[in-house]
Parts: sequence; structure tokens; C-alpha cells
Amino acid sequence: MSHEKTASTFDGWARSGRAERLEAGHGDVARQVIERMDIRPGHRVLDLGCGVGWATRLLAARSAGVQAIGIDISPAMIDKAAELSDPQTRTRYEVGDLESLPFGDGELDRVFSMEALYYAHDLAQALSEIHRVLEPGGHADVVVDYYVGRSTTEVWADAVGLAMHHLDEAAWKAAFHAAGFGEVECTHVVDRRGPGAERDFKAGGTFPVWNAYRAYHEAGALWIHAQKA
Ligand SMILES: C[S@@+](CC[C@H](N)C(=O)[O-])C[C@H]1O[C@@H](n2cnc3c(N)ncnc32)[C@H](O)[C@@H]1O
Repeated sequence: MSHEKTASTFDGWARSGRAERLEAGHGDVARQVIERMDIRPGHRVLDLGCGVGWATRLLAARSAGVQAIGIDISPAMIDKAAELSDPQTRTRYEVGDLESLPFGDGELDRVFSMEALYYAHDLAQALSEIHRVLEPGGHADVVVDYYVGRSTTEVWADAVGLAMHHLDEAAWKAAFHAAGFGEVECTHVVDRRGPGAERDFKAGGTFPVWNAYRAYHEAGALWIHAQKA
């Protein structure tokens, strides 16, 4: 699977409006995690696989003088993020690759990523880059909806048409440790809005029946919090 194919797939999401709808699905979980990230005044924070940048803007607004940088492989996502950029926050967006981050060693205080890391072509290299750019004591907070053990996710890669890393919690932890992180904790974060009412459920996409959708909701997103020693 090439980087070009990944970029063109997500350029398509940006141009069709699908990318702008992602906040509706991921926003509540992302807010719960960002609120617990201990972002302090003046921190430099990276949003990896930022899409149209809604979480980048939330990160920048977390504390005074925070500089938030969004990186994404899709030029159309980055154009959209720049267009939606809020002049009240210190944000910038760049086309870039998870596996080769445009920062010096130890330049960043926090790294956040929502629903992007499992698309890495070389996951070990991406995690090693995150570890390299963090300062000692800094941490990465990575959220994935797609993990082994969560209802229906086993069919996602076919639905998206890209190769994706489908790992269970233990494998995610091991991958972060292998990249050099000391403390690694996993937490399941459930969307506080609930699954909605069964009578409003419509089968489709990757959710064939209500029970599968409810089980998906109840499992929650996997938040991996990894600290650089
Ligand atoms: C499901 S979207 C999530 C976007 C955003 N974080 C959100 O929650 O709205 C995944 C994003 O990861 C980006 N991405 C995938 N592979 C990447 C890579 N190798 N390097 C950088 N970005 C990548 C895609 O372009 C896309 O914008």
C-alpha cells in the first residue's frame, strides 16, 4: 500500500465533506482525552493525522500560548484545516507523514492523535518518531476506535480500502514499549452521549444490527497514554 494511495483516499474524504463530519463522531471522546492531557501554558502540541484540524484547534485552546501543529498526509485535509483555522488560536498545519516528523529531537511537549495511527505504513517507525520528538517527561495520547476485540471493526479495512493495523490492547502497549516509552496505560473511553435509541437505529455501513452497534458503543475508544522517561 503506497503513501499516494493513503493520501488520495483521504483527499477524497476531504473533498466529499466526509472529513468535516468526523468531529460529530469523535468529538466527545476526543474532548474527554484532551481535557485530561495536562496541557500547560506555552506547550507545543502535535496533532498527528489531524484531518480538517478540529482537534488541533481544541488542543490550542486548552491553555494560554499553546502552539498546536496539525500534520496530515492528505494535502486536501491540510487545505481544509487551514481554511477552517481560527485566528484566535495558535495553530498551523502541514502536509507530512507519521513516519518522518518534521521536528527536532525533544521539541514537543505533547502528541495527540485521533483515529490515525493505525494507518501508518510502518507503525514501529511512526511510534519511534513520536518518541523522538517528545521531550523527556512528555507524553503521547493516542486514541483508536479500531482495535481487536471491538465489535465490527474486523471489517473496517475492507470498507476503507487501505491496509490498517488491527491490534489488541496488549499489542498496542507492546508496540509503545518497543518504541522506548516507559509508562504506557490503556483506558476505554465511552462516548457520553450514549448509543441512542434502538428504534432510531438504521442498519448500514459496518453496523449490520443494533446489538453490534450497541456493543461497539459500550466497548468505547481505546486511549493509549504513553510517557517518555
Ligand atoms: C480517520 S481520519 C481522522 C482525522 C482526524 N484526526 C479526525 O478525527 O477527524 C485519519 C487521518 O489520518 C491521516 N493519515 C493516514 N495515514 C497517514 C500518514 N501515514 N501520515 C499522516 N497522516 C496520515 C489521513 O489523511 C486522515 O486525515
